[in-house]
Amino acid sequence: MAHSFEDMFGRAVNLMAARMPPTPPETVDSFLTSPGLFYVRNHGPVPQVREDEIQDWEFSIEGLVENPMTLTLRQLMSEYEQVTYPITLVCAGNRRKEQNQVRKSKGFSWGAAGLSTALFTGVVMSDVIRRARPLRGARYVCMEGADKLPNGFYGTSVKLNWAMDDNKGIMLAYKMNGEMLRPDHGKPLRAVVPGQIGGRSVKWLKKLIITNAPSDNWYHIYDNRVLPTMVSPDESANNPRWWYDERYAIYDLNVNSAITYPAHGERLSLIGLPENYRIKGYAYGGGGRRVSRVEISLDKGRTWQLSDINYPEDLYRGVNQQLYGGQLDMSWRESCFCWCFWSLSIKVSELKEADDILVRAMDEAMNIQPRDMYWSVLGMMNNPWFRVAIIKDG
Ligand code: MTE
Repeated sequence: MAHSFEDMFGRAVNLMAARMPPTPPETVDSFLTSPGLFYVRNHGPVPQVREDEIQDWEFSIEGLVENPMTLTLRQLMSEYEQVTYPITLVCAGNRRKEQNQVRKSKGFSWGAAGLSTALFTGVVMSDVIRRARPLRGARYVCMEGADKLPNGFYGTSVKLNWAMDDNKGIMLAYKMNGEMLRPDHGKPLRAVVPGQIGGRSVKWLKKLIITNAPSDNWYHIYDNRVLPTMVSPDESANNPRWWYDERYAIYDLNVNSAITYPAHGERLSLIGLPENYRIKGYAYGGGGRRVSRVEISLDKGRTWQLSDINYPEDLYRGVNQQLYGGQLDMSWRESCFCWCFWSLSIKVSELKEADDILVRAMDEAMNIQPRDMYWSVLGMMNNPWFRVAIIKDG
């Protein structure tokens, strides 16, 4: 005989992401995000490139280099070693909606699904830059896209030594999951910067400019920053000194996690409910750091339980395991480019007693998600403990 949830506990239990945007579970159900669900963040109209123009797409490497070059995509594909990496892209505005609910920031309300994972194929950026031979004093790689926006082309920069460090995986990509890039994701060529906010991964790439200073592109200055918390929208609009301070520019992602099961407003199935409920979600670290623990609290952070962590990315880095006969797995020491999934089986009876479920992650440098939100005017890098409320009715 089927028992309803009410039969079993005498009341209904709704699991709701209170003050929390929904994370559609299907966006995080698989390690690689299907193309139709991959998040899109464009600042303006998407440049249109015809199929017959793809191979002739030109981009230049200029600035502080001995050997400035203009390369076509055809040359990039035929003259350089090709690599494929699984990479999770995360918008700096992931989870911004929570900030907007506390105080409206200047950004729109991303839920906790402003991130996606794909296999990116292309060329390691350092291979291209090395051939251009950077000159003394070269410190930054400025990137510029082809999208014409109200304040010029989209552009930003990363440090040259990051681009030259192959362990960071910075690449020029033309394929996603084995297919040529789709228009929204930078067709035909984009930069991909693993472990850093998505805003550094310039799409429709036209230029790499090697410089001795960070990019002066409008979108580098007025976007992708965490300004001090007291700076209000008005104050920031009237005072450019906040924006020109490179200390507030964001590069590495901060450690973060979210609960995807239960989803927003999910009502536990009333029929045949098992004794345990498996709560699940994702987590990621920044700068190539791996998430080393994910913890769950059912008592508002007084006590925590350790969840299981699954790193599907490891399936893609079996080389070391093969070399060492599977005995010596050193792969965890390498940079980590992707999200991981965590899960924890909880007794339904315990859930029944709780008001909410909290999750927090820690990375291998012991950076841990804070309890409290750090509000800032662009609403970026939001990473306090993620909370799902358990609403009890009846
Ligand atoms: N590159 C260009 N040329 N123009 C853009 O608007 N948006 C950036 C980045 N690269 C952007 C860009 C931002 S803010 C993010 S989060 C990522 O692209 C999103 O990449 P996706 O749309 O492929 O997910």
